Amino acid sequence: MNPVSLYDMEKMAKQIMPHDLWDYVAGGATDEITIRRNREAFDSIMTRPRFLVDVSNLDTSTTILGTRISFPVMAAPTGSQWAAHPDAEVAVAKATQTVGTLMAVPTGASHTLEEIAAATSGPLWFQLYHLDDEVTEFHVKKAKDAGYSAICLTAGSAGGIAKERDIRNNYNPSATEAWADLKNEPHLRAKVESVDRTVNSGLTWSRLEWLRSITGLPLIVKEILTAEDRPSLCGTRR
Ligand SMILES: Cc1cc2nc3c(=O)[nH]c(=O)nc-3n(C[C@H](O)[C@H](O)[C@H](O)COP(=O)(O)O)c2cc1C
Repeated sequence: MNPVSLYDMEKMAKQIMPHDLWDYVAGGATDEITIRRNREAFDSIMTRPRFLVDVSNLDTSTTILGTRISFPVMAAPTGSQWAAHPDAEVAVAKATQTVGTLMAVPTGASHTLEEIAAATSGPLWFQLYHLDDEVTEFHVKKAKDAGYSAICLTAGSAGGIAKERDIRNNYNPSATEAWADLKNEPHLRAKVESVDRTVNSGLTWSRLEWLRSITGLPLIVKEILTAEDRPSLCGTRR
C-alpha cells in the first residue's frame, strides 16, 4: 500500500509494529476519552473558504518565538520514538527540516541532543521533564550547548499517567534505559529512577523562576494533555 494520508500510515504502522509498542504509541490515558475529544475537537474546526482571490502566491508561514516556520504545525515531543523506528528523533528532525517546521525533542529521546541537532539545520526545542534539580540543570545546559532555541517544560505529568493498554500489556514506558543523554551518567540516571512520579514531580510555579535563572533560553510551559481536558487551567496562572 502506498500511503496517501496520515491515516494510511497509521494503518501500516499498526500492521508492522509489535503489539505492545503500537499500543504505547497509539494509546491514551485511562478510558482514552481525551483521544476521542481531541479528534472531535480537531474535526469540528472548519476553515473559511475565500473564493475568487488570487492564490498564485500562497504563504502559510508564521513565526513562533521569533522563528519562522513554513506552516503552523510543529512536531510535538514524544518519548520512545525508537518504538516506531530505530532512527527515531533523528528521522523526525530531518523530516521537520524538510517541511520547514520546528521539532520539540523529548527528554526521553533515544538519540542524544547533539546527535539530533547534527541531523538538522532546522529549529529545535528541548522538552523537559523536571524530575530532579541536578538532572534538570544537566539537561538544560546540554540543550543550550547543542544549539536548542527554547526549553519546553511539561507541567502536566505529575501524578503519573495511567495508560491502561500499557498496564494490560505489562509494558513499562517509564523505564529510562532508552534515554540517550543519561547513558553515560549513572549517577543522574539513578536519581531519575528513584523519583516517585506517581506522587510528585517537584514542580511548582516557584521552580519556574529557578529554571529561568539557570537558562538564558525562552521557557514554554506545556501541558501533556490539552485544553479540552482542562479548560479551567488553560492559559491561567494559579
Ligand atoms: C506516544 C506518545 C508519547 C508522548 N511523550 C511525551 C513526552 O515525552 N513529553 C511530553 O511533553 N509529551 C509527550 N506526549 C504528549 C504530546 O506531546 C502531546 O501533548 C499530546 O499527544 C496531545 O497532542 P495530540 O492531541 O496531538 O496527540 C506524548 C504523546 C504520545 C502519544
